Amino acid sequence: MTNSNASRVSTELTEAQIAVHWQEQELIQPPAQFVAQANLTDPAVAERFSLENFPECFKEYADLLTWQKYWHTTLDTSNPPFWRWFVGGLINASYNCVDRHLPTSKGKAALIFVPDSEDESHVSLTYQELYVRVNELAALLRDFAGLKAGDRVTIHMPMVLELPITMLACARLGVIHSVVFGGFSGQAAGQRIADSQSHVLITMDGYYRSGVPLDHKEKADIALAEAASEGQAVDKVLVWRRRPGQYLSNTPMVEGRDYFVDDLLRDYRGSRVAPVPMPAESPLFIMYSSGTTGRPKGCQHSTGGYLAYVTGTAKYILDVHPEDIYWCMADIGWITGHSYIVYGPLALGTTSVIYEGVPTYPDAGRPWRIAERLGVNIFHTAPTAIRQLRKAGPEEPSKYNHRFKLMVTVGEPIEPAVWYWYYEAVGKKQAVIVDTWWQTENGGFLCSTKPALDPMKPGSAGPGVPGIHPVIYDENGDEVPAGSGKAGNVCIRNPWPGSFQTIWRDPERYVATYYAKYCKDPQSKDWRDWPYFANDGAVLAADGYVRILGRVDDVINVAGHRLGTKELESACLTVPEVAEAAVVPVADEIKGRIPEVYISLKPGFSASAAIEAKAVAQIEAIIGKMARPKAVHIVPDMPKTRSGKIMRRVLAAISNSMSLGDVSTLANPEVVEEIRHMVQGEEPVAVKEAPEDIRRFGDE
Ligand code: PRX
Repeated sequence: MTNSNASRVSTELTEAQIAVHWQEQELIQPPAQFVAQANLTDPAVAERFSLENFPECFKEYADLLTWQKYWHTTLDTSNPPFWRWFVGGLINASYNCVDRHLPTSKGKAALIFVPDSEDESHVSLTYQELYVRVNELAALLRDFAGLKAGDRVTIHMPMVLELPITMLACARLGVIHSVVFGGFSGQAAGQRIADSQSHVLITMDGYYRSGVPLDHKEKADIALAEAASEGQAVDKVLVWRRRPGQYLSNTPMVEGRDYFVDDLLRDYRGSRVAPVPMPAESPLFIMYSSGTTGRPKGCQHSTGGYLAYVTGTAKYILDVHPEDIYWCMADIGWITGHSYIVYGPLALGTTSVIYEGVPTYPDAGRPWRIAERLGVNIFHTAPTAIRQLRKAGPEEPSKYNHRFKLMVTVGEPIEPAVWYWYYEAVGKKQAVIVDTWWQTENGGFLCSTKPALDPMKPGSAGPGVPGIHPVIYDENGDEVPAGSGKAGNVCIRNPWPGSFQTIWRDPERYVATYYAKYCKDPQSKDWRDWPYFANDGAVLAADGYVRILGRVDDVINVAGHRLGTKELESACLTVPEVAEAAVVPVADEIKGRIPEVYISLKPGFSASAAIEAKAVAQIEAIIGKMARPKAVHIVPDMPKTRSGKIMRRVLAAISNSMSLGDVSTLANPEVVEEIRHMVQGEEPVAVKEAPEDIRRFGDE
């Protein structure tokens, strides 16, 4: 029942030892101008959302939505840990994000699309136009594609207006969308099509990245072949065109299977589709994420609980007001984009910006020019992008007159030096920063400061957000007290409405991965006995601020993208010459971590650049380019324990120039020096201190 990987967090470390990169930082108060206009300024929120008021406190979030039928039971715990929120309620997410804003705001921009090319002007889509486009597409999906409530659809699209339009059209019908990040390969999309049993794939011909047109439709053919090999047939591929009427792909359209959406839409002009009343508990979407095994898991999110949670947290933590111009640079293909580009901001009736390109194209001033031009006042991004922008253009923000009231960092720990640049250079000391910690599984934020109420602490996420009660447990399930300076496993004591409902078609894995470890009594129907285990290590300071140390499972966080080491290893094993593969994280100045690959070959083969290239090509084909390793090392043998287990910890130490520790008990200690020599060269490299997640990587 115990997840042995979780034991990697040593509870003996002091906070000072853990803080390899940084020490405990000073508190910084939110700027007064921010506080004066903030949505959440009443300190009584802590009392309202205390455990004594759980679960009824979340009515406050549910009441931000328009229900077709009001719910009767806030939380049903009769089948733990499969929590059911707002039971009895009927609601439609598309109605809440679109229709309900029409009486007051139909002429206001719901979405602004900023193309990759700076020569192309941006496109604003008003709430009225969004309403029309969502309705027409919903009619097409229903009448042409035959989709109905409960069906799954895989959407593999880049950052364009048509992506949220497609999601909202699905939501209007109660169709469960599974958006796959556009950067994932065709095979990765195919696996997800098969797992979600989608009969329809919605894709796009191509898009632009750093001035280069990319063929995206070619991935659809690979995806369909992969899905078919897993027994899932797709009968329709709906292809949006980046520019209606022009085809950006070199891949032929398949007669009777592939259709251009812009062509089909002509038949649906003026169509209106009544938003289907969905039970609060019906799934809104599936979002795949990486874990300890080779296969990604489909996190299933609900309609009512999820929408209530992202709306409430977007209002209180992101401080979204309807009149704001809000820009989140994440990709909609990840959970951040679902919750905080599409559903949360649109449910609040604000203007949300969608950017097709990369932060540093054509130069590192681009984000600040976009912000200045559009009047963006809330800016949301990840430490990797901040590090990149700081490195490429530290002075750039000072050249522009953008003015943010609030800035967000999400996805990875942020180093204080980087935080201060964000605060001083980008925010001009006028913007409050929220460092939001959460995961695909969670739907919305778990830890963050309340922007007008709590001081900021660079490098720390902060306390639990309203209604979230974090706790740090050691391996024995004992609480690690706040301020003890000891690391442990961060858990949440209570359920919350945004949490995923299960892993799609794998409820056992849901229980085993997130709840079994610290469940106090598997028979209990009391939520207090079922803390949520986040699979992250953390330290809780005396002031209740949580500092996240990183994953305690086999996941590597690359530039804020979650990659399973097992997924990369399985990709390497598809190279015929490869006998064994081990993937370890290497610390990187910009991307946080990058995977590095070790492979050993089957007898009769010798190391060659061609085999290394094949391993890289397989990783890119099976997962995507963002998983490209820093290096591939072909080793004579893997360092192994006497029982034959590959010692990934030793490989991680070599890749990161860390002390190797005692390797004498290995079955083949001599190979360690050989590999070290191969990777580091003649002279041993000076021993470095590595961040905590790397130091404990591969421990049992
Ligand atoms: O390790 C934590 C890290 O990102 C993981 C979740 O990744 P994903 O499901 O892709 O969701 C990313 C965006 C919500 C976590 O387990 N992480 C996320 N936010 C932070 C973070 N680490 C430190 N600080 C954060 N603010």
